[in-house]
Amino acid sequence: MRVVILGSGGGSNAAAILAAAAAGNLGRAQVVQLIADQPTAGILAHGETFGVPAQYLDPAPFKTKLEGAGEDCYMETIAALAPDLIVLAGFMRVIKPRFIAAFAGKIINLHPSLLPSFPGLDGIGQAWRRGVKVSGCTVHYVTPEVDGGPIIDQVVVRIEPQDTLVTFGEKMHAAEHKLLPTVIARLSRQA
Ligand code: GAR
Repeated sequence: MRVVILGSGGGSNAAAILAAAAAGNLGRAQVVQLIADQPTAGILAHGETFGVPAQYLDPAPFKTKLEGAGEDCYMETIAALAPDLIVLAGFMRVIKPRFIAAFAGKIINLHPSLLPSFPGLDGIGQAWRRGVKVSGCTVHYVTPEVDGGPIIDQVVVRIEPQDTLVTFGEKMHAAEHKLLPTVIARLSRQA
């Protein structure tokens, strides 16, 4: 199963996927390309560390979505990679129906909340500010409804009285780093 990972920020989830692959724990999945929409995104460095091709793709002209010339560029580049799975691992950009339709059923997203609670930006902060005692992370298929596609799997993270936003965030990231590679491995065995 050919996997392409898209990311924007630190790239710790992409690193977790690459580490799982290096350890033989990614099933039949193989990461063939990392793509970042920010020239400083962490996944570019992680690609080098793990020997996986990584590239920055200019998403212009929009700041928060993928549309127009940027969308064309992403669609052409990704189509040429013939992926079986496209993983949004901290890709902070709304992708549009045209892109989603071109790779129907092949795009999954990691979200830092127990969807359908707290969709959108800053799922960790939203849950913290709401004062919930149980949160977690979700991997779901991407559909045109932002964070609204069919849920593949979720992991629960409890917020304990002694937690701070920082320790809660750390627990969330640790949970994500296990969940996402596990889901990819499982999907690869089903493919
Ligand atoms: C992760 O917490 C992921 O759930 C979140 O961005 C972070 C990326 O971390 N994604 C979203 O909020 C998507 N709406 P990383 O760059 O270290 O993998």
